[in-house]
Amino acid sequence: MKSRVVFMRPSPKDRQELSFLPERMKAIGYDEEGIREAVKVTDVCLLSWPEIPGYLWRCQKADTPRHDMIVLWLLNLGLKREKVERALGVEETALLLRRKLLEEREGEIFAQVDLYPCEGAYVFTDRLMSPIRLPSHVYELGKDSYLLARVTPRSHQVGRVLDLCTGSGVHVINGARHGQHVIGTDINKRAIDFARINLAMNQVDDRAEIREGSLYDSVAGDNFDLITANPPFHPTPDEKMQIYRTGGESGETLTEQLVTNLPKFLNNGGLLSMIVVYPILRHETYLARLQRWLGGGKGYGVALLNFTEMTREFFIQTNMEVKGDWKEHVEEFDRWMNSYERQGIDKIGVGNVFIYRLDGQPGWSAYHPIPWPNRGRVAPVEPWLEGLRRFHDPAWKPEAGWKPQLTCEVWARSDGAGQARWSDPDWPTPVDLTPAETAAARDLAGCQDVEVLRSLGIKNVIS
Ligand SMILES: C[S@@+](CC[C@H](N)C(=O)[O-])C[C@H]1O[C@@H](n2cnc3c(N)ncnc32)[C@H](O)[C@@H]1O
Repeated sequence: MKSRVVFMRPSPKDRQELSFLPERMKAIGYDEEGIREAVKVTDVCLLSWPEIPGYLWRCQKADTPRHDMIVLWLLNLGLKREKVERALGVEETALLLRRKLLEEREGEIFAQVDLYPCEGAYVFTDRLMSPIRLPSHVYELGKDSYLLARVTPRSHQVGRVLDLCTGSGVHVINGARHGQHVIGTDINKRAIDFARINLAMNQVDDRAEIREGSLYDSVAGDNFDLITANPPFHPTPDEKMQIYRTGGESGETLTEQLVTNLPKFLNNGGLLSMIVVYPILRHETYLARLQRWLGGGKGYGVALLNFTEMTREFFIQTNMEVKGDWKEHVEEFDRWMNSYERQGIDKIGVGNVFIYRLDGQPGWSAYHPIPWPNRGRVAPVEPWLEGLRRFHDPAWKPEAGWKPQLTCEVWARSDGAGQARWSDPDWPTPVDLTPAETAAARDLAGCQDVEVLRSLGIKNVIS
């Protein structure tokens, strides 16, 4: 599997020359659903190296432009020129060869980069399935990228949007769907070049831009309504780990800076949506830590949507560099374990953090575990967040015609406490309710009779 390093340089002609590609890809069904269905994989971000022969077998058998494009852009394998031209067009193929996004060798055409679809955006990244990995590797779209893209609320138009640690710029492009102006920042110059090309290819470069700089450095003095982030977060004593992965020995060097400085950049009413792999510490919960970084949590609503927890041994084994020599390998594992033990890291969690700035409010925090979202279907996060905000807002009264959106049953016990059960299959965990919350649920339904309330269904008043 050959692969060369490609250096992409943005050009003023990018929009004009490359915007055909997302349109062409959509037309042939090269999107998340189309890829899942074509190679029978649970999710685009779960394509795996050992399974390539199986994917290839399906693609060759099906012989459609969509299957060919999966071979070219995701599996890192070559195609005959006629096949590439059938999918992309003759002139377009020549253009991509000229731009060195494609390369012809040994009688076949190969892509020099990956091309990922994500919620309507199309982005080039460095190759996932490549033996070459530069220190400046431009991060392919991983599970973290897709989770952040899928759970970030997008149903309302917002003003200014900031995407920290932007990499390929995928969240800038998705932010431009509902934001007036979007800025992405990154410290990796190669990623900045890729992101600028991606913005032009997706035709959002007139309302979105990429700036070089660490976290907020290049946006000093600016304020935002939505901030998204997929920062490097792996806790590791390995100082050589790539810049898109490591968050220092604690894993939290960047996330701590990001949250501590958030108050300077987030508008009142604004939201931070950040995907994290985070250390579960013996002595402090993650929510408490986030509130501490915010200076106490007063005036902030902090919610953690948790996807999974894993043992530290499993996390280390799957993330540390594999050493050829067994003794060296075990020593490296011990080094990681000792570092985790010293810091009180018991387990590793994966979740999405939502922080609302709510000036004048007492502040609140909420934790909700949901199963790992598969097949691109994510639980209805937005109604959950809306419910939390309303429930905790001392000034909120249900406006006329207000109707619950996420139906659930509320069961009340004789001591006044209760339990809410969501009917949505992606939001299955029952939630215990305090007597006050149970009472609030009844009041919101305008009804004191639990039997009637149950038949009406109550929206997510409480988490
Ligand atoms: C996990 S990747 C995420 C890329 C992309 N946002 C996504 O979701 O696919 C993390 C990115 O953070 C960038 N990065 C690392 N340290 C940074 C810093 N101090 N400030 C800004 N970006 C940084 C890396 O270059 C990399 O592009």
